[in-house]
Amino acid sequence: MAEMQPVDLRSDTVTKPASGMRAAMAKAEVGDDVFGEDPTVNVLQRRAAGLLGKEAALFVPSGTMANLLAFLCQSRPGDTVILHADSHPFNYESGGLGMVAGVLTKTILGDLGILEPELVRTAVVRNDDHHYSHTTVIGIENTTNRGGGAVYPLPTVEAIAAIAKENGMRLHCDGARLFNAVVASGTGAAEYARHCDTVSFCFSKGLGAPAGSVLVGDRATIDRAHRYRKMLGGGMRQAGVLAAAALYALDHHIERLAEDHLRASRFRESLKDIPQVEFPLPSPTNIVFLDVPDALAYVGHCAERGVFMLPVSPTRVRAVFHLDVDDTGLERAVAALRDAAATLR
Ligand SMILES: Cc1ncc(COP(=O)(O)O)c(C=O)c1O
Repeated sequence: MAEMQPVDLRSDTVTKPASGMRAAMAKAEVGDDVFGEDPTVNVLQRRAAGLLGKEAALFVPSGTMANLLAFLCQSRPGDTVILHADSHPFNYESGGLGMVAGVLTKTILGDLGILEPELVRTAVVRNDDHHYSHTTVIGIENTTNRGGGAVYPLPTVEAIAAIAKENGMRLHCDGARLFNAVVASGTGAAEYARHCDTVSFCFSKGLGAPAGSVLVGDRATIDRAHRYRKMLGGGMRQAGVLAAAALYALDHHIERLAEDHLRASRFRESLKDIPQVEFPLPSPTNIVFLDVPDALAYVGHCAERGVFMLPVSPTRVRAVFHLDVDDTGLERAVAALRDAAATLR
């Protein structure tokens, strides 16, 4: 019998470029993007800015760099930025906000990784007394990673944007999975972006490209980000090879995100009767969290059965659906998780 392919549900970053994407990369026109001469990067930046209704966009190697640039170019060292306690920049970006941007982070709560506007309001400091650090940027995440792929309701974005505006602050949206939010909610990317000063989104997550993110915003802000990208060593030369993958992703991999969302909900539905497994959060997009008595042991037993997931706490496991998991992969994952659950007490 042919060996079965493993099913990798650790993250939507594990996808391999599709053959059409590789072909697009192979024939990309390129130039030196540090001189601004890569035509494919230039097309991508214009396209990303247009898609989000903003003046300018900057192609960067990663979502982490896009977030860091957004905070760097909209704050000064010693300022405070407001983030959700579960946000990616606070938890998983190596402390770059503190070390590189030199800002303090005030983390606040809210269900499903979504900031509660009234808590944001109370976190804002408007006080010229020299004792205080100025709060200058608010960061939201759409969809939320640790919140189970939750989608920001548009009125919540509007309410937070209004607080930012009233207080002369900037609003950045980490849209690593913005298009999952767009496809799940039917709200357009530009509609979300309209309320934000800067938005980043990633090509390397659900969109299936090997690398790359963009930061979009007004021209002056993106110009500043460009300078900081250079400083951080993020200037890439013939980056059109990667930009071509990103353009291919925009053309071919947005609408299909609905399939990932459907598989995530079928996965939950197929496992809901297992007493040892609970689903602590809703899964409106492609991320599913499972609570089990022993996450490491369960992940190990599933891996022995060819299905990989990520333990994120002693009792919590993450499974993410993506381009490289089809219906056969879903069925295999369900069978393996059921079988492995029998090993849990
Ligand atoms: C919500 C969110 N923001 C930012 C990032 C960072 O992206 P990258 O891994 O490209 O640095 C991730 C990565 O998974 C993420 O989930």
